[in-house]
Amino acid sequence: MLIEAEATMFKTSIDISEKRRVEIIALLNARLADTLDLKLQTKHAHWNVKGPQFQQLHELFDQIAARLEAASDTIAERVTALGGTANGTTRQVAVASNLAEYDLLAVSGAEHVKALTSRLAKLAAAVRAAIDESNRLGDMSTADLFTEISRAADKDLWFLESHLVG
Ligand SMILES: [Fe+2]
Repeated sequence: MLIEAEATMFKTSIDISEKRRVEIIALLNARLADTLDLKLQTKHAHWNVKGPQFQQLHELFDQIAARLEAASDTIAERVTALGGTANGTTRQVAVASNLAEYDLLAVSGAEHVKALTSRLAKLAAAVRAAIDESNRLGDMSTADLFTEISRAADKDLWFLESHLVG
């Protein structure tokens, strides 16, 4: 089964060499897989959370999922702007994601918040590393894209972790 179309590079007038663009696209596709994986995991939490904080967490998880959806769209469209192919199918994501599978036994609000926090923290760390990597590759626009996603991920970590205090 062909799961990567990264070898196909399309022409672009963007003044970044193809060699560099291939590396940047691989970085973007790696974080695209994590982001899409976490978006579905967050939806899973949105659907399945139970307990006294149900309504509030149900809504928070949906808001986080929407931000991850928007982030994935931004990442995928940077891939295609750079002449690459965004690897966005469920099967591609399942193979490429660096995140652990969700805690499928989670039921309570605290269990879902903990499961999401650990996975979002991993994504946030990978995105922060991608800022440096994009700069190293000479692509400040991609670094800026990752910076914006990093700031949003940190904020959502705050929203989640605030539920675990006390
Ligand atoms: Fe919903």
